[in-house]
Amino acid sequence: MNCAARLVEIFGSQADVARAFQLDRAVVNNWVKSGYVPARWATEVERVTQGRISAVEILTEASAKKPVRVKSRPEHAPFGILSENDPMNQYAPAKRIHSFHPPQRTLMGPGPTEIHPRVLTTMSQPAIGYLDPVFVEMMEELKSLLRYVYQTKNPLTFPVSGPGSVGMEYCFVNMVAPGDKVIVCQNGVFGGRMVENVIRCGGVPVVIEDKWGEPIDPQKLEDALKKNRDAKIVAFVHAETSTGCQSDAKLLTQIAHRHGAMVIVDAVTSLGGTPVKVDEWEIDAIYSASQKCLSCTPGLSPVSFSERVVEHVKKRKDKIHSWFMDMNLLLGYWGATTRTYHHTAPTNALFALHEALLLIREEGLENSWARHQRHHVALKAGLESMGLKYLVKPEYQLPQMNAVLCPEGVNEAEVRKTLLNEFGIEIGAGLGPLAGKIWRFGLMGYSCRPDNVMLCLSALGSVLSDMGLPVHVGDAEAAAHDAYAKMHARDAQRKKRAA
Ligand SMILES: Cc1ncc(COP(=O)(O)O)c(C=O)c1O
Repeated sequence: MNCAARLVEIFGSQADVARAFQLDRAVVNNWVKSGYVPARWATEVERVTQGRISAVEILTEASAKKPVRVKSRPEHAPFGILSENDPMNQYAPAKRIHSFHPPQRTLMGPGPTEIHPRVLTTMSQPAIGYLDPVFVEMMEELKSLLRYVYQTKNPLTFPVSGPGSVGMEYCFVNMVAPGDKVIVCQNGVFGGRMVENVIRCGGVPVVIEDKWGEPIDPQKLEDALKKNRDAKIVAFVHAETSTGCQSDAKLLTQIAHRHGAMVIVDAVTSLGGTPVKVDEWEIDAIYSASQKCLSCTPGLSPVSFSERVVEHVKKRKDKIHSWFMDMNLLLGYWGATTRTYHHTAPTNALFALHEALLLIREEGLENSWARHQRHHVALKAGLESMGLKYLVKPEYQLPQMNAVLCPEGVNEAEVRKTLLNEFGIEIGAGLGPLAGKIWRFGLMGYSCRPDNVMLCLSALGSVLSDMGLPVHVGDAEAAAHDAYAKMHARDAQRKKRAA
């Protein structure tokens, strides 16, 4: 049965299909007569049928029924106009391709997050050159906004062109010379990637491991540093996105410094969502990513380096093995005084980051941290009211990344699939040893809002209840409401006392 006929079967009649899609009946009649639904309806059909007919099915059928056809042109067609005999057509896509329109999703996974409309609007402004004086002025503002979110006065604070993984690599490539010993604290996926980076830089990793879901044990670091007095660097993840666990970045940095080692800190998930205080904690090198609590488009990695690191890199005798990432070369573009071509900066993405950071500046960094905490408390109240248990102990839980154990006998993937197909909500799966065992609910940046908390709890409650779990639909929302009410009451009392 073709997709048009299946639609009629699902909705009952052509008239009902027309109503569901807010279309004229004649249009639906035409779909049925021609035996296919035009490709431009693919995502809408998937949405309206709640995934019973997938977008891919519509696209495959439509492209088979109506392959790309190029209009024939006169014999001596002007230069550049396609003709059926154009030999280049053999390389043309087989299916008919339309402009891409992503569906509206509620993004409550480990990132990317939803993006504030102001950021999207800014991103669509006209392009300008990366050495245009107006752009250069914007770069300076961008750096000062990044210093604010990082709470640092480090002059070398800027966004690397590339995702968080590039920021990570940027730190290691510049700071780790062949033969350097690096202690890597690993308690999840991303610590593992740090080990890979050390190895690829020719360094010697010393790995100290903690259980996934537990914070990095400061005593283990202390012991490792005592045993490895020649260790030059300690690297760790502040907020492990794979487990939702937060480690004590300040204490770990203090321990490393006591033993003369510098630190590389991964703040991909923490920046903007929980306190990160580069100067107060005396962090040497730190990187983050644009698509988590900063709520920008993915593809930029804000980094910050202390003067000590800059000196360390300048003093290196060997050539840094990546041209693109060589800090000394990139300083020519992002440094304080010069603006020379290094690579073509992703200008519109940088406009977007400027706006995303401005939103945090307007909200206030502490308010942003408090917002993440408030909605985490409400989400947690709702999840726990459904009997769900957190992977991480309360004192180490990240507000922006809630890792929850999937109850025994429940098909973890099926729940995520249903949330996506029926409610348009994306949540994250477990990684590595936690695959199939946890769900990860992100509350990051612009996605961290009360409407998302409520929608998510309501959708999850109905999915779990449909699956036969003893979940009473509506209880989770009530628990979240109650948590919000208590927080409001406490805030009101605090304000009254302060007045
Ligand atoms: C803690 C952590 N570090 C590094 C990365 C890598 O960032 P990206 O995916 O932007 O390359 C991620 C991504 O989720 C992360 O969560």
